[in-house]
Amino acid sequence: MRLSVIGCGCVGVVTAVCFAEIGYDVICFDHNEEKINDLQKGRINIYEPGLKELLKENLQKGRIKFTISLEECVNFGDVIFITVGTPLLLDGNLDVSQIELLAKQIGHFVNGEKIIAIKSTVPAGTSRLIQEVIDSNNKTYHKCSVISCPEFLREGLAISDTFNMERVVIGTDDPCIANLIEKLYSSFSKNFVHTNWETAELIKLASNAFLATKISFINEIANICDKCGADVTKVALGMGLDSRIGVSYLKAGIGYGGSCLPKDTVASVKSAEDMGYDFEILRSAINVNKKQLLKPIELLLDALRVKDLSGKVIAVLGLSFKPDTNDIRNSPSLPIIKRIFELGGTVNAYDPVAIPEVKKIFPVVNYYSEIDDAISGADAVLILTEWDHIKKFDYGKISALMDNPLIIDGRNILSLEEMEKYKVNYYSIGRTALFSN
Ligand code: UDX
Repeated sequence: MRLSVIGCGCVGVVTAVCFAEIGYDVICFDHNEEKINDLQKGRINIYEPGLKELLKENLQKGRIKFTISLEECVNFGDVIFITVGTPLLLDGNLDVSQIELLAKQIGHFVNGEKIIAIKSTVPAGTSRLIQEVIDSNNKTYHKCSVISCPEFLREGLAISDTFNMERVVIGTDDPCIANLIEKLYSSFSKNFVHTNWETAELIKLASNAFLATKISFINEIANICDKCGADVTKVALGMGLDSRIGVSYLKAGIGYGGSCLPKDTVASVKSAEDMGYDFEILRSAINVNKKQLLKPIELLLDALRVKDLSGKVIAVLGLSFKPDTNDIRNSPSLPIIKRIFELGGTVNAYDPVAIPEVKKIFPVVNYYSEIDDAISGADAVLILTEWDHIKKFDYGKISALMDNPLIIDGRNILSLEEMEKYKVNYYSIGRTALFSN
């Protein structure tokens, strides 16, 4: 069996290299010629641990190639994965027009029996629509079957998530195709959920809605902890050890960001609304998240006992929406930097990989490749991403770098004991604040 992948974003390239790694011949299409030329040379602008190495290795072995010809891509594979983006439209719906356009072209190019596996996140009903579009454009006698095969990988962990999938969801009414896809994925997972198109599509959206709700839930608990002197990290542990609850996605902080949770939650609310249903819990989770994103600014103004930040230098540590990625889409760092500027402050920023991305949006931030330099002379430090470099920094030297050390830890990564020892004014999310002076 040969495989094709349409769309060379994170999901597409990771899917392609992982299947190539286990021995499949894979071709990938993208209409961006520059991206394709780079990928063919082993160059990739996504920072994803292990991805570049796997790409280079499989290019060398000749198992993976890249093309700007959609026809070549469609002709090559028996299974064609669609991994193009489904951005949010202004009305809150996911834009599936790229997939619709592809469906017309695929219908036109079909040269044999094909399985079209939709991995992009789409509203319930999309696979059905795409099957109709392909069928009405397919002038051959070759069967072209659409399946829904949603992707659950996390950025920064994409390779390991692919090689160790907790489940593979296969949406199709055709048992032969379902078995074939199960075999294809058997090296990656032992758990398969066989279902119809709409259920598979909804599993993806419901999963992201649940994760977002879990995060907003613990963030609200953190805010309650602040009111009553409890410690949210211990509350989360005490709750999470109950196997019905589970410890994951209970890290309180400055809210969820990224390319998926913010977009998919809004889309789920809108899609439910279009069906005549008010997805109340998720609406609340989204609102809680919006407020939580600016929590560090609230803490900062309180701690400095000021109403604005004029004359203040704020060191921002971490710009990407989470560690091990250079992705800044919906990163809390963006509204926070914007707000610091609105309040008249100056920003010194550190991030190990995401500076070039943020520079395009905020050219006037002072960027530093070393934490010491970003902190030096600052009035306050905001920790926004839990990068290892930021966790492991020697905060023992902070009083040599700052006159009056103040840290607002938006990710609860530093130890209260250490901060007390180093005489730092330290605020975190849902844990006791420390005032050394
Ligand atoms: C998410 C889903 O996890 C994945 O299954 C889906 O395929 C794509 O969307 P991703 O966007 O890579 O993956 O990030 P994830 O690791 O889920 O984190 C999302 C956001 O939630 C980040 O901003 C992270 O900092 C935040 N988060 C996560 C918390 O604030 N607390 C937590 O306990 C977990």
